[in-house]
Order: sequence, then structure tokens, then C-alpha cells
Amino acid sequence: MKTVKICEGVYRLGVNIDPGNLFEGIWAIPDGTSINTYVVKGDKTAVIDLTQDKDDFPGSINAQLEEIGVTPENIDYIIVNHMEPDHSGWLGEFRQKNPAMEVYCTKKAVPLVEHFSGVTENVHAIEDGEVLDLGQDLSLQFFETPNIHWPETMMAYLPQQKILFSCDAFGSYGSVEENAVFDDEISDDQHAFFEKEALRYYANIVASFSTFVERGLKKLEGLDISMICPSHGIIWRENPSVIVERYARYASYMKGPACPEITVVWGSMYGNTAKLVTEVIKGIRSEKVPVHQYQVPEDDIGFILADAWRSAGIVLGMPTYEYKMFPPMAHVIDDFNRKKVQNKKAFRFGSFGWSGGAEKELGTATESLKWEFLESVEWQGAPGEDELKMAYERGKELAVLVKEFAGKNCD
Ligand code: FEO
Repeated sequence: MKTVKICEGVYRLGVNIDPGNLFEGIWAIPDGTSINTYVVKGDKTAVIDLTQDKDDFPGSINAQLEEIGVTPENIDYIIVNHMEPDHSGWLGEFRQKNPAMEVYCTKKAVPLVEHFSGVTENVHAIEDGEVLDLGQDLSLQFFETPNIHWPETMMAYLPQQKILFSCDAFGSYGSVEENAVFDDEISDDQHAFFEKEALRYYANIVASFSTFVERGLKKLEGLDISMICPSHGIIWRENPSVIVERYARYASYMKGPACPEITVVWGSMYGNTAKLVTEVIKGIRSEKVPVHQYQVPEDDIGFILADAWRSAGIVLGMPTYEYKMFPPMAHVIDDFNRKKVQNKKAFRFGSFGWSGGAEKELGTATESLKWEFLESVEWQGAPGEDELKMAYERGKELAVLVKEFAGKNCD
């Protein structure tokens, strides 16, 4: 990877986490994920967010710093927008090379800087709105933006060039190559790819903090922004409002309504619950409502979360397992709760053997999600013609409801 010049005195450096890894140790990234670092060089030099201490990421960033004549010895400031180790894992070792470089972070980040990195000296806790002058008509202004993505998060703004360094906010999954770093350098297909990956990143990483995203967006309204430089994904130079509007939409889905689409998640032990899936989907499609279909435990939860997040309707197909929910579906519901997949229209179907129980547990498990359920279709043993017919009708009914309820502002 090579350093990319953004404008006079401002550079983008980066590495890509390879597809074989799990982001945060949880989330599948079949197309990788970039970690971006930025450098602002005036009379003083500031590095904005470092990188993870993984593979040869430190070696790669060192080489990219050298390309622009920056060494640890001539760095004056490390700007720590966020202390999650994908951006700060290398901080402790890096700063040992020049303990005089000053760490700028929020007050809440100070103990994290100590406990993750062992750094206790030359740590400056910013005041909200504080300005750091770097000389040569370059400065950085800092804004606390808590919980996008951790409580200690802030963003840095370069007023002379109207550039926002937003760290996790406005980020996405997906590797970024040095010849396609900016939004105006990528094809329509790549834009579609990064749109999907931004949604998945949002649903996996940021979703549960959507209230804070809305507050953060409100706070940024007063800034004149011509470029957004996130720490994951592409730089928005041609049209930064695209990603801002996208994040505003994603955040709004928590309170609902989301989009006129339905996500069907199903699992089956011996095929009896599975027999209704096709009928439910036929019913939904009869109303021309798009369907996203996932089977558990086979399909990845990160993808399920993304489509569930943007869908106004959810269908759950699962049998009872030992008096309770089919365990892979219990895991999905648990993640729906953790990520606040709320305010949906929903429907559940499924079989049971000697006893039911999934229905009761599902009711308890979804209490705080504010879902409105249609009447379930549940049966003992193998489904008959009545259940198959009801599945079609209930799918259709849900699709009609979703069309009435869903938001219009989706793409
Ligand atoms: Fe990219 Fe919350 O770290």
C-alpha cells in the first residue's frame, strides 16, 4: 500500500484486514476491511488514528510514513479519535519511539490510553471544540461524538480544507486499494458494493448506538464539510452528503419504520418447518415486496443483521427444541436484542414434536424490541394443507402491512 496525498499537507495511509479474518473477532468480512490512518503536516505534524498491532500493519504504516518524510521522531501529535484497538493497538509501541509526541484524545479516552497502551505522560484531554494549530494555515478542531462507536470517541475537523476525520462514523467494510481511495475513483459497481458494506458495517458495529449517531449528526450540522475521511472504507470527496444521508437513514431504522422489505430467517431440524418457507415467501412476493432469505445456523449473523436492520418486516421460521426456541434462532434473537433491531412487523411459524414452547420463549425474548406480531402458524409434527395455506396467507398479510407501515426514504 502506498500513501495517497489528499491535498497539500494531508495524506491517507492504510492497511487492509484480509478476508480470512473476523472483524472484532466476530464479524465475517469476505471482502476485507481497510483501516485508514491520516497525516496532517504543517509546521507541526499530527497523525490521526494509528492502526492495529496485527500482521505487518505497523511495518506497512511505517513504510508509508517514510514515503512522506515522517518518522516517529518528527511527529508532534497523535490524535486518538477512538481507542478501539483496530485504531490504537500499535499506540504503546509506536509512542515509545518518541515519548515527546503528545496524545490528543477525549477525557474519557485517557484511562483507556493508559490501560490499552501503557501511556500516561504527554496525554492531553481535549475540550469539546478545542483547536490545535499546526502552522502553515493548518489546524485541527476536535468534537466529542460519544458512542460512535465507544463512549470516548471524538472526530477531528480541518477547517481550512473542510475535511472531517470521522474515525468509525461514515465507515464501511471492504478493502480499499491505493488507486481507488476516493468516491470519485470507483465504478458504479464498487459504489453498490460499498453501500452494501456500509449497511452491514453499520448493523454489526454501530446499530445499537443509533441514538448517538443521530445526536452526532445534529452536532455536525454546523460544520461546512467538503470531504469525509473515515477510518474504514473510502474517502468521500465528490459527494460526502451521500454517506451522511445514508447514516442518517440507517440510524432512523431503529425507531422505524425501516424499508418496505421483509427478512425471512428460518431453521429446521427435520424439514417440517422448512416446508412452509416457500409458501410464506410466495405470499410475500404476491404483494411484490422484496424478500431476503437466511437459514440458520448455516448463514452468517452479520449478513442477517444487515438485512433485518433495513427491513420493516421480519419472518421467523423455527421449531420448538426441548420446550424452547430452536437454539440457532435463539442466538439470532439475542443479537437482534443486542443490536436493537426494533419496531418491526413480524410473523413466526414452526413445528413442534411432543410439546410446544418456542412461541412462549419468543414472546419473552422479543418483549423489548417493540415488534408487532401477526398470529403465528404452529403445528404438531408434519404440516398439512391447512398450514401450507395459512403460511401463504400470512406472508401476504405481512407484506400488505409492511407496505403500509414502511418508510419511503430507503435508497
Ligand atoms: Fe474501527 Fe470502533 O473501531
